[in-house]
Amino acid sequence: MSADISSIKEIGVLGAGQMGAGIAHVAAVAGYEVRLADVSLEHANKGKAGIAKRLGRLVEKGKLSAENSDAALARIHPVIGAAGLSTCDMAIEAATENIDLKKRLFADLDAACKPGCVLASNTSSISITLLAAETKRPEQVIGMHFMNPVPVMKLVEIIRGLATSDATYEATLAMSKRLGKTTITSKDSPGFIVNRILIPLINEACFALQEGLGTAADIDTGVKLGLNHPMGPLELADLIGLDTCLAIADVLQRELGDDKYRPANILRVHVAAGWLGRKTGRGFYDYSKK
Ligand code: CAA
Repeated sequence: MSADISSIKEIGVLGAGQMGAGIAHVAAVAGYEVRLADVSLEHANKGKAGIAKRLGRLVEKGKLSAENSDAALARIHPVIGAAGLSTCDMAIEAATENIDLKKRLFADLDAACKPGCVLASNTSSISITLLAAETKRPEQVIGMHFMNPVPVMKLVEIIRGLATSDATYEATLAMSKRLGKTTITSKDSPGFIVNRILIPLINEACFALQEGLGTAADIDTGVKLGLNHPMGPLELADLIGLDTCLAIADVLQRELGDDKYRPANILRVHVAAGWLGRKTGRGFYDYSKK
């Protein structure tokens, strides 16, 4: 059975963390029914509660009517695991950036989702072809890489695996457009386009900090005001999550086989310490008092 945009009415999101919740938020606002899955109902409900808070802020600012906010929230149904996505027309995996975990989740999604359901991954660096190989429907597997924070960032990077069909690709492009996103298409290569460029920038900022070129604030202000970026690379790394940045840097180094991608030690030790950025209250900056 081939994918068809008009038949995509219910979207499943596997992973209710910051990316998964962001994807569920934009899908529900765009009018899709959304099943938001995580390892437990408690985790999935927590993801939905975060969305409710952010929609509430949009209502306060007058950017969304209370009626549309309520309707969007009512379209989000928290469920447990891949098994909770059996009725979906498209499932988007948004779990932690870990190859073994994502491989397992793709096998689970393939077993749980109905025939014809497109299986997309929000991976920021892992091969779509590799994930597709865990399924019996590689032609219906595709990369759909959202940017953080998902409700604000306009881009979705689309990645075709070796076997991805034209119908799956076209349906994913059309669905991204309905979410109000602009798409680019990347080859299935480590880090795709955005992270092939972003992670070396963040990593170089880590080396600059490690070598004492300046303080974290000097480095971030240099890039913000000197290059007109909305955020400095170290504060952006804190937003993305230092564990995610390290996982992507490891993939770039290993898969591209070039030591120029080696992660800075300061990034490794922050992750080892559990200083993962905003989500843990501490990364390159301290958020515990904010
Ligand atoms: N969820 C929803 N909305 C959010 C948000 C969140 N987590 N964080 C901020 N916003 C909204 C705010 O509500 C605000 O909305 P309005 O304009 O409607 O009021 C808007 O974003 C701007 O926010 P603020 O005024 O609080 O702060 P800001 O102007 O400094 O913007 C920012 C914050 C949007 C995060 C901006 O700093 C920015 O664009 N930073 C760069 C982000 C970026 O580069 N992301 C890509 C990361 S790479 C990636 O994601 C790929 C990967 O695989 C690693």
